[in-house]
Amino acid sequence: MTQTKNFAVFGNPIKHSKSPIIHAAFAQQCDLQLQYRAVRVELDDFARAAQNFFDSGGAGLNITVPFKREAFEFADKLSDRALRAGAVNTLTPLPGGGVVGDNTDGIGMVSDMVANLGWVLRDLRVLILGAGGAVRGILEPLLRERPKELLIVNRTAERAQQLATEFSDLGEVEGGAYSLIGCRQFDLVINGTSAGLSGERPDLPSSILTDHSCCYDMVYGAEPTVFMRWAAHHAAWAVADGLGMLVEQAGQSFYLWNKMRPETGPVIQQLRGVLAAA
Ligand code: ATR
Repeated sequence: MTQTKNFAVFGNPIKHSKSPIIHAAFAQQCDLQLQYRAVRVELDDFARAAQNFFDSGGAGLNITVPFKREAFEFADKLSDRALRAGAVNTLTPLPGGGVVGDNTDGIGMVSDMVANLGWVLRDLRVLILGAGGAVRGILEPLLRERPKELLIVNRTAERAQQLATEFSDLGEVEGGAYSLIGCRQFDLVINGTSAGLSGERPDLPSSILTDHSCCYDMVYGAEPTVFMRWAAHHAAWAVADGLGMLVEQAGQSFYLWNKMRPETGPVIQQLRGVLAAA
């Protein structure tokens, strides 16, 4: 008989996490026996709880807000993309002891754009709003798609400048204040700010959009976000939220742990239904 493997996601808050639903659906597809729990960890208790989890035979751990940086520090080894992101969302035990930290958020977003939405990123003019941890996490996989140019703008201009400097070895990256947008136009606009959580959005001139511009919000909800509504109102060619990114990053973690690639499309559909019913 095969033993049930134990997985979990640690966060705080964690009540609304969709990860248990996603991983249960993947497991069913792949005919795997596993348990995946969402665990609320006290703010000062991450390292102890993670150690405990792996000491008790935990087979893999996802990490969400606010522990991704602590997970980065907790890991004994780091993947290149985790090093670039400065944050870890996936911990996996190593055969000889210890754990390796990876970050699947950025590759999750790029997979959603490319495989699910059919967007080709090569040679695009890309604008990113925000310069926090979420944006840092997507820059490496995004730049590997070779956009023509990438402008990062942020309310606190220095944070965007800093990111541009750090990632400039991977492509044409500029960073600074919103005023840098001027009268430029973009093929892809990504909202990586947390403004939507308080029902706000960065103030943008609609002239940034062309009739083929795609707009992507890294967050998701039952309803279109404020940024998505703005994009649709100004006739963006395509508008998407981050639900696909959530499922794709989970698919990448699932692959790291189980060496199987589940089909993400049906799970995205399933979650849309869950959100609509909530
Ligand atoms: P996360 O981990 O979600 O990236 P974060 O590191 O706190 O969280 O970053 C939040 C991002 O949203 C930042 O870029 C922040 O801008 P500042 O660096 O100037 O704080 C941006 N942000 C939050 N609220 C915003 C708002 N109302 N308008 C514009 N940008 C906002």
